[in-house]
Amino acid sequence: MYQYHCLNPISEVGLEKFAEEYVPSSLPNADAVLVRSASMHEMEFSPKLKAIARAGAGVNNIPLEKCADAGIVVFNTPGANANGVKELVIAGMLLAARDIVGGINWVEEHEEDGDIAKLAEKKKKEFAGHEIEGKKLGVIGLGAIGVLVANAATHLGMEVYGYDPYVSVDSAWRLSRNIKHARTLDEIYKECDYITIHVPATEETKGLIGAEAISLMKKDVVILNFARGVLVEQEAIVDALVSGRVKRYVTDFPSQEIVGVKNAIVIPHLGASTEESEDNCAKMAVSELMDFLENGNIHHSVNYPDCDMGVCRAKARVTLLHRNVPNMIGQFTALLAEENVNIDRMVNKSKGAYAYTIIDVNEEISQNIVDKLTKVKDILRIRVIV
Ligand SMILES: NC(=O)c1ccc[n+]([C@@H]2O[C@H](COP(=O)([O-])OP(=O)(O)OC[C@H]3O[C@@H](n4cnc5c(N)ncnc54)[C@H](O)[C@@H]3O)[C@@H](O)[C@H]2O)c1
Repeated sequence: MYQYHCLNPISEVGLEKFAEEYVPSSLPNADAVLVRSASMHEMEFSPKLKAIARAGAGVNNIPLEKCADAGIVVFNTPGANANGVKELVIAGMLLAARDIVGGINWVEEHEEDGDIAKLAEKKKKEFAGHEIEGKKLGVIGLGAIGVLVANAATHLGMEVYGYDPYVSVDSAWRLSRNIKHARTLDEIYKECDYITIHVPATEETKGLIGAEAISLMKKDVVILNFARGVLVEQEAIVDALVSGRVKRYVTDFPSQEIVGVKNAIVIPHLGASTEESEDNCAKMAVSELMDFLENGNIHHSVNYPDCDMGVCRAKARVTLLHRNVPNMIGQFTALLAEENVNIDRMVNKSKGAYAYTIIDVNEEISQNIVDKLTKVKDILRIRVIV
């Protein structure tokens, strides 16, 4: 039996995916924790805790290194909310194409006016705009969200350019062949009427869209930012909106600088705020935890390497979380050989300062062997799965 604890409300649709042998418990008794935004930085971890799954992508609320040192694997759920974000990006493009927000506001301001129908017919030209069909869209970052946005935009009749020098094989497979491959950012800036960013915020990408990038873009370009506020330099975008160089800036990240600026459409971080996104994140978190607890497999960890040996069919599977230092595997294999244990299959992966080894053997692993393995320096946790 495995015990889990939810630090925040987690979608029931996800929790229902737990098999019968999983039961809710108090935090000190939990083998696994599910969390959304609760801060875990000041928490004491019980030695029983083996895994934490963040239902969502960001993991700022979790002390990753402290967890890794304690042999606790931290998972997140990348891509589980991608469709929710994609739909809001499409909505953002449509909101930018005509002054829909201005039009709705005008109607609300005239709600008392008995002549509203007539007045609207006169006023409507002020809110008119363009259609997005036939326009060029540049997508910067072709990961889980970027691919969905790019593919959806082709179905709306847009000509789509994609830029991602680090694109994964998986994303490349999912990308429609109608997307044009932009080799440089300049190509996107020069060609596109709409530009949307879907890259993580890193030292490389912070301020990606600044005054220089904007100067290379078409006049009247629409910029969409549903990734992170820091990707766009606030001063540069405000100047470009005020001068009319950029037609509209649609962002999911309110800031003091941008709120209230004409032609900025500012949304209060609603990208992943859908019931479906929350369900998908919870389902993914539960399946990651179950595969780890039952088979030792790691998928989408942020502090240990991904590692998969499939369903455990061996007599015993030994999983070892350890530091990424020389001769760890040599010590494990020598120790098992001394005890006359034959290794059937083995895999070892590393990520930064930490590593993970899974060993399948066709005989039982005695407590004596576990005790000996425990004494190996730089091992952080051993589990034997039978
Ligand atoms: N608005 C929201 O509520 C919301 C929700 C989820 C995610 N996000 C944001 O969206 C971002 C993208 O999410 P995702 O799930 O698609 O992530 P992802 O990791 O699947 O994709 C990111 C892509 O960016 C690419 N990339 C990295 N650096 C790049 C660079 N310098 N130039 C071009 N491409 C680069 C990577 O190769 C990858 O393909 C996240 O980092 C997150 O900040 C926002």
